[in-house]
Amino acid sequence: MCGIVGYTGGRQAAPVILDGLTKLEYRGYDSAGIAVSNKSGNIDIVKAKGKLQVLCKVTHNGENLDGFCGIGHTRWATHGEPSENNAHPHCNEDNTIVAVHNGIIENYVPLKEKLIRRGYKFYSETDTEVATKLVDYYYKKYNDPLRALTEFALHARGSYALAVLYKDYPGEIFAIRKDSPMVVGYTDGGAYLASDVPAILKYTRNVYYTDNYEISRLSANGVKFYNLDREETEKQPSVITWDAEAAEKGGFEHFMLKEIHEQPDVVRNTLNCFVRDGEIDFGELNLSDEDFKNFDSVIITGCGSAYHVGVVAQYVIEDLARIPVRVEIASEYRYRNPVLTGKELLVVISQSGETADSLAALREMSAKGIKSLAVVNVVGSSIARAADAVFYTKAGPEISVATTKAYSAQLIAVYLLALKLAKVRKTITENRYKGFLKELATLPEKISGILGNKSEIQKFASEMMDRKDVFFIGRGIDYATCIESSLKLKEISYIHSEAYAAGELKHGTISLIENGTLVLGILTQNSLVEKTISNLKETESRGAYVAVLATEDVAGIPANFRKLFSLPGVDGHFSASIAVVVMQLFAYFLSVLRGNDVDKPRNLAKSVTVE
Ligand code: M6R
Repeated sequence: MCGIVGYTGGRQAAPVILDGLTKLEYRGYDSAGIAVSNKSGNIDIVKAKGKLQVLCKVTHNGENLDGFCGIGHTRWATHGEPSENNAHPHCNEDNTIVAVHNGIIENYVPLKEKLIRRGYKFYSETDTEVATKLVDYYYKKYNDPLRALTEFALHARGSYALAVLYKDYPGEIFAIRKDSPMVVGYTDGGAYLASDVPAILKYTRNVYYTDNYEISRLSANGVKFYNLDREETEKQPSVITWDAEAAEKGGFEHFMLKEIHEQPDVVRNTLNCFVRDGEIDFGELNLSDEDFKNFDSVIITGCGSAYHVGVVAQYVIEDLARIPVRVEIASEYRYRNPVLTGKELLVVISQSGETADSLAALREMSAKGIKSLAVVNVVGSSIARAADAVFYTKAGPEISVATTKAYSAQLIAVYLLALKLAKVRKTITENRYKGFLKELATLPEKISGILGNKSEIQKFASEMMDRKDVFFIGRGIDYATCIESSLKLKEISYIHSEAYAAGELKHGTISLIENGTLVLGILTQNSLVEKTISNLKETESRGAYVAVLATEDVAGIPANFRKLFSLPGVDGHFSASIAVVVMQLFAYFLSVLRGNDVDKPRNLAKSVTVE
């Protein structure tokens, strides 16, 4: 996954592009590059291995590069190791066509072989160089910059957001996308292109979300769009309402910490958008009460943390709405041959809305005629556009690779879905329904309370920083919180951890418990805590150091168990929303203490647009 930025207009292009790329580093950060059409009409390219800062240094923040039109790229390697050679932009032999690309050209090997047969030579291992030379081939054949891109689209398979500079068209950027995000912005004197809005928000709030196979043509005079027949098309612009500050760190040391602290607001905003006058209002969802009555089951899919939200949802929806729910890992589900009745509701959960496996699972199911609801944070993203209905979470841009606030907003989405289904299907009384909505409204304050006492969690983290293994155990919704807690810990602290349904540990994995192994028990489900406490004791008697995260009203916790934090009382259906905050902070502090790059953990990228 990568980030691309383009600019053409009255300003010096390189500083604008580099500034935009800094907002996209969450999309990739192993190398970066920039290309600018200079005053003499040639295209200058500068690339650097490593984080964007290296490129900024080499180019003096872009000041060294003349010219008013250019494209830039921050890379997360897919084909070929991170190196200057493999970094984008890529160019044709005489440097007259230069391109940056986000995505994967799946058939790049046969395309490359074909181009080699026609005399092309290659200097890198990338699919992007193949894409660039494919554009070059068709440009030379038809002498038409639009035709070169439509031919590219006809011959390339895979996903791409491709932005191209042609030396013959100085001051213009041509771009095409399929299944990789691209937004185009404009002002009076210029036009912008980026993989994501924060990259251009400083310059414009007027944007177009481009569609698959749509060609964008940017110049200082404005933006034009074309279809695959190269006919100009009309397009509706959107206005971005986000505060530019929302994409910045806002005084916190890391985006992750800032985003953890935004959770009370995010939960409140998401609730306020969908609960009005004590009623869930799904008016903007394009799903009627009749639809909710007629579904015979719910299938939830997603990846990573989004999948974990699905696990919480399974417990909550089944318990409240009495409808069968299955949760499926998207990368598996897309290749399954499930038995379907045709009356299922498919719920695809994704912060970015661009996760390749989730998108593919959605497409597979849509092709089988299954109605879909996307729970997505990024407006206009691919999953949002491919689904029949969209619940937009109101988390705002999430920069840290480890998701926190988007996860919390997704939880609210699935709680509301559970309550909506329960109400329409009459599986809970009106009183209970109202009571649950009131309970949900207390979550922001309860989360704020945890954030106000975070030093307790920091202290615990400092005592645990040398642990090699951590086990999270719990039952029911606490198990769902465990899997998310364990992922958080792994991805940013690099400490090995496992999450287990408490009763399952003794079926093999308990053999890994040694003297001093940290076992964290989550205890928020009243009817299950006794059982989990017994399982914790089993680990303690094998040498584990046991700590518990429990709601304040849980009784019977052995005196020798360490109390990590006492959670405020909450209805058990919604306890994941508060328990997870403690675990996010635990992982965060461990990551800081161990000197890790919290917001950009090794080997990871914010949104995974490849299989
Ligand atoms: O953008 P998505 O929600 O589809 O992303 C899914 C996962 O890649 C994501 O949740 C990942 O597991 C996070 N880095 C976890 O913090």
